[in-house]
Amino acid sequence: MRVLVTGGAGFIGSHFVKRLAGAGAEVVVLDKLTYAGNPANLEGVDAELVVGDIADVTAVERAAAGCDAIVNFAAETHVDRSILTPQEFVHTDVLGTMTLLEWARAHDVRYVQVSTDEVYGDLEPGRRAAEDDPLRPSSPYSAAKAGGDLQVLAYVRTYGVRASITRGANTYGANQYPEKLIPLFVTNALDGEPLPVYGDGKQVREWLHAEDHCAAVELVLHEGRPGEVYNVGGEDFENLEVTNRILELTGADPGLVRHVEDRAGHDRRYAVDDTKLRELGWVPSHSFGETGLPSTVDWYRDHRAWWEPIKSGSYRAYYDAQYGERLKA
Ligand code: NAD
Ligand code: DAU
Repeated sequence: MRVLVTGGAGFIGSHFVKRLAGAGAEVVVLDKLTYAGNPANLEGVDAELVVGDIADVTAVERAAAGCDAIVNFAAETHVDRSILTPQEFVHTDVLGTMTLLEWARAHDVRYVQVSTDEVYGDLEPGRRAAEDDPLRPSSPYSAAKAGGDLQVLAYVRTYGVRASITRGANTYGANQYPEKLIPLFVTNALDGEPLPVYGDGKQVREWLHAEDHCAAVELVLHEGRPGEVYNVGGEDFENLEVTNRILELTGADPGLVRHVEDRAGHDRRYAVDDTKLRELGWVPSHSFGETGLPSTVDWYRDHRAWWEPIKSGSYRAYYDAQYGERLKA
């Protein structure tokens, strides 16, 4: 099988490329190499890298030629950045998705859209979102992802494109750009820098290891039904609990924790029902507390050469815009 993996130089996409290439598939990566894309994530991996934008028809044609399937990981993915600069999220997450769908339609190739549990918006305690729940996105990021999902479903119904959608929970593991909660807090803790907890820190997220997320996407690629959506869940923890575990695992000073001004429109809780995916045969292999988080912290401790260069330059400008005033207050 020859598979086009978009966003394959990013965090989850690079785990997926390693998984497919390791199993003998021919893999082509189309990636714009934004701040989040890093060719080092694919070092030593047998995959062809085409640098380009998924919203650019010519780049898509070049990368997708001869492929039997497209798995779309490419996206602008960080909620905080979507609050600062919303427009580019629509470009990639909606228009880019549609450009890929047009190719899938014209060449009748299998298509998997990697989406997110954030499209359901936040859920009151005790409730878990099922795949047919209404979409109630809260941030410019999740609204753009929901727009992409709706286009996928429209292309299935209108043009018969063989597309499925996965909606994954908060994902963690090696090679995650240090802007999201876990890699930011782990690397800050290792450097003795503050850990900026938004608001009271009692927001709940479900944590899913990148390898388990990729196993789910691969299963849906092969066994998922066109037109169907599959939730991919994780283990729920409050942010403060995740923060405390990071402090324990890094041995950092608990005094580094700083409660700062909350994220605008911050979703309180995500939770999905992933029975449908489990019925397809998916069983996660990582336990957050026992293997997942400890091995992730070890990875960042052992790979300073990967993240130290990232945490300078344009990252610094973003960090100052996002946290400068908050940390001073
Ligand atoms: P990431 O930010 O680490 O990587 C995104 C990749 O997409 C980068 O390599 C970037 O260069 C590339 N990209 C961005 N815009 C592009 C464009 N216009 N054309 C081509 N490439 C482009 O993202 P991630 O965390 O690995 O997320 C991958 C996918 O999984 C996204 O679709 C995201 O919405 C979804 N998802 C992420 C999580 C999570 O917790 N990280 C959870 C659920 C779903
Ligand atoms: O749920 C899936 C989604 O998970 C993905 O679709 C997104 O691409 C991914 O970024 C992630 O979104 P979140 O907004 O949930 O992840 P983030 O790591 O940014 O934040 C996790 C929680 O931690 C959230 O409640 C906000 C909080 N937080 C985050 C940062 C970066 C803090 O308290 N302080 C921080 O500095």
